[in-house]
Amino acid sequence: MNVTFLLNGETVQVEADPTHTLLDWLREDTALCGTKEGCNEGDCGACTVVVTDADGAKALNACILFLPQLHGKAVRTVEGISGPDGTLHPVQQAMIDHHGSQCGFCTPGFIASMAIGHLQGRTDHDDVLAGNLCRCTGYAPIVRAAEAAATAPVPAWMTDETPTVDPQPYAPETLDDLADWYAANPNATLIAGATDVGLWVTKQLRDLPQVAFLNRCTELRAITQTDDSIHFGAAVTMTEVLATVGEDHTSYAEMIRRYGSEQVRNAATIGGNIANGSPIGDNPPALIALGANLHLRHGNKTREMPIEDFFIAYGKQDRAQGELVAGVTLPKQAPALRCYKISKRFDQDISAVCGCFNVTVQDGVVTAARIAFGGMAGTPHRAHQVEAALVGQLWTADTITKAAAQFSQDYTPMSDMRASAAYRLEIAKNLLRRYFAEMTGQVTSVLEVTP
Ligand SMILES: Cc1cc2nc3c(=O)[nH]c(=O)nc-3n(C[C@H](O)[C@H](O)[C@H](O)COP(=O)(O)OP(=O)(O)OC[C@H]3O[C@@H](n4cnc5c(N)ncnc54)[C@H](O)[C@@H]3O)c2cc1C
Ligand code: FES
Ligand code: FES
Repeated sequence: MNVTFLLNGETVQVEADPTHTLLDWLREDTALCGTKEGCNEGDCGACTVVVTDADGAKALNACILFLPQLHGKAVRTVEGISGPDGTLHPVQQAMIDHHGSQCGFCTPGFIASMAIGHLQGRTDHDDVLAGNLCRCTGYAPIVRAAEAAATAPVPAWMTDETPTVDPQPYAPETLDDLADWYAANPNATLIAGATDVGLWVTKQLRDLPQVAFLNRCTELRAITQTDDSIHFGAAVTMTEVLATVGEDHTSYAEMIRRYGSEQVRNAATIGGNIANGSPIGDNPPALIALGANLHLRHGNKTREMPIEDFFIAYGKQDRAQGELVAGVTLPKQAPALRCYKISKRFDQDISAVCGCFNVTVQDGVVTAARIAFGGMAGTPHRAHQVEAALVGQLWTADTITKAAAQFSQDYTPMSDMRASAAYRLEIAKNLLRRYFAEMTGQVTSVLEVTP
């Protein structure tokens, strides 16, 4: 595949295998070895680089970024974050001044994330750096360095223009072209953000001979809003979803803030998080609780379904070979929606259980309930028995206790490294109690507790 992009300000053209990662290419085929390999699966941020496209600059993990995803973009590695004459970037100088580096292995990745935070004028340093792990310095000096650099002007060399490039067949620019190609090549692999597919290559060493990349398809990247609804094209990233739902669905947005890290959210797409059928994806429970509709496209045929019907069984979704997820539409109004993500770590962790509640109460009586969980079964799905035990009943603690007992009818969770079956059932009951407490005005989140 022919790929053209800017690398530290210089145009490069590479003839690349579809799944050649940027990290491998940098370290094996160029002299730019500053970008480090830690986990090789998107978790540690040692390989963070700055990637600029038409929407601006963002941090991405080079270890799960395939070269063809860079076509028409600009990349800055740690070598290009200092100026062409070797002048240090303000975040680099601040890291020296504040002793932010000891062994230095994580430092290039931190510098890349900090440079993006600096460029964007961010002050939420904990969120900006949540995807970068440091094993020896400790985070306080690093955050102090980010704070110290915040007011310095952005160096001129950090503003990249994206190069003009020719369209490439591996990255269709219209949904019609993509849908026709995929219908004719149903065994091909679609690659959206590659936060799953990247690991198939780096960890499972899988060959993917035939692929198409979705990130240049305009319709799949579109976000359309009406007074009542939001439509996300399947290739909209989680960063864009977070920015869009923040106003109407604050609880959903807060959950997405804890989805992976900046680097992961900048790559991962909402369509990939649905299409992969994962029982522990964070979007599906929220979208099911919202009553969202999924849009599918097969050749020139489109169809639409309630998203809860898409997940049939573990590893099985209602999607034909050669059919792609085109987008998802969700309602704007859902003031009672609350989303709770339970994971071992606060940041950068996959959910053990993810519970989303959307219960309507009128005159003290429950009139409608949509409750959906991930991590409780082979698919994300609704707690129908719990819902039935709520609807028509008084909205009281007594009703909640009776309804909570129904979770064992709805779900038979399994034990794995994230949580035991017993823990999962207990936490589901507790989340219903927490939802009731929150909706009746009690403080339930430790984040809301002030000293
Ligand atoms: C470090 C790390 C942290 C993570 N943290 C979280 C987390 O907190 N919460 C969470 O839910 N997930 C998390 N994930 C998992 C991952 O980010 C998601 O599943 C992601 O949404 C997948 O989207 P993608 O665009 O990267 O998909 P890809 O990897 O590109 O594709 C995933 C699958 O979906 C298919 N696909 C993609 N788009 C389409 C489409 N439009 N139509 C049909 N098929 C399609 C692909 O062919 C592939 O089978 C994490 C992953 C990593 C590496
Ligand atoms: S090497 Fe760990 S995120 Fe890339
Ligand atoms: S300085 Fe050693 S891992 Fe961060």
